[in-house]
Amino acid sequence: MEKLIVLLPGDGIGKEVTASAQDILETVSEKFGHSFSFESHDIGGIAVDNHGTPLPDQTVEACKQADAVLLGAVGGPKWDNLPSHLRPERGLLGIRKALDLFANLRPVKGFPTLLHASPLKEEIINGSDLLIVRELTGGLYFGTPSERRDNGNAVVDTLTYTRREIERIVDKAFQSAQLRQKKLTSVDKANVLESSKLWREIVEEKKQDYPDVTVDHVLVDAAAMKLITNPSAFDVIVTENMFGDILSDEASVLTGSLGMLPSASLAENGVGLYEPAHGSAPDIAGKGIANPIATILSAALLLRYSFGLDEEALAIENAVEAVVNEGYHTADLHVENGKLINTNEMTQLIAEFIKNETVQS
Ligand code: NAD
Ligand code: IPM
Ligand code: MN
Repeated sequence: MEKLIVLLPGDGIGKEVTASAQDILETVSEKFGHSFSFESHDIGGIAVDNHGTPLPDQTVEACKQADAVLLGAVGGPKWDNLPSHLRPERGLLGIRKALDLFANLRPVKGFPTLLHASPLKEEIINGSDLLIVRELTGGLYFGTPSERRDNGNAVVDTLTYTRREIERIVDKAFQSAQLRQKKLTSVDKANVLESSKLWREIVEEKKQDYPDVTVDHVLVDAAAMKLITNPSAFDVIVTENMFGDILSDEASVLTGSLGMLPSASLAENGVGLYEPAHGSAPDIAGKGIANPIATILSAALLLRYSFGLDEEALAIENAVEAVVNEGYHTADLHVENGKLINTNEMTQLIAEFIKNETVQS
């Protein structure tokens, strides 16, 4: 299979973890006889430095022409004081909007050997396996206009959702639940927000179309609590943009580290973008110690969702699991009697495992 993958490494550890994932994709392509080519483009702070904007037109065009996009992370202290329209994060929001990536799937599944690496009790997280379906192109992140008033002493951020925007993410979540344990939890703040009331109404309407899926509604504050007291109660969670952002970082604690959490950002039609849930980690950038697993697992999602290469995706996931189960870990994980290694060593171990794995057919 011949495919063009656009890489958007971005800033900080984004560059390091994207290079790792590219290595793994090259290993897979060699092993399974595919031909993946790669093209890198600027986004975020590096794009501000090189082009004066966090999202150059040529980056958007390249993504639209690609078969899939793999993104590292954007942002860092160097660009934190720029005006809003020049912030690196605007580049990320811009590419999500430009590609209409409304559905962000964030699977959260712990590895058995990392149970004790979480600050949560093993018996609480044991067996948890959930998927957060986060709406990604609406809500507070895309309010218009977001502005200061009264000489800077008042602010306006608006939260808008249309029926169509809610329907498509809710459909995606029901369909995802049908492929899993058929249990959907819709998370909202319907006791306060009008947008959440419409959200809840639409979930109630849509459930008629998916009679095999059981549905419940949980308010976001309670959901945040349940996520870490009884995570096994969840299968698929569907929620709006900002709630999904916050709950997914929280959920990463179940896996032991934010550095373990991959994601897929999908459009109705058109190219998919794959990115770790974490950021550019300025505190460890440039040290070669970042955990590349979130991005490597995002590359597996890329193979599965954009190219339909299930076996290849599974080869990556199995390799990650095997290496983790042997006790290898990066510095973000606290593994008792583990073997501490750096980004490059982790990547090479995973690549070696893929090379030596027996191909199942
Ligand atoms: P962060 O996710 O970058 O880091 C939070 C903490 O987790 C840090 O201590 C960091 O060292 C650690 N961490 C994250 N990923 C790791 C990995 N792969 N391996 C080891 N440790 C890891 O969040 P932050 O510090 O709040 O934000 C830093 C910058 O990243 C900000 O500019 C923010 O806007 C940006 N950001 C970007 C994205 C993205 O591009 N998708 C996501 C989140 C934050
Ligand atoms: C994420 C990040 C982004 C978000 C930021 C950097 C805009 O936190 O991908 O989770 O909030 O969506
Ligand atoms: Mn986030």
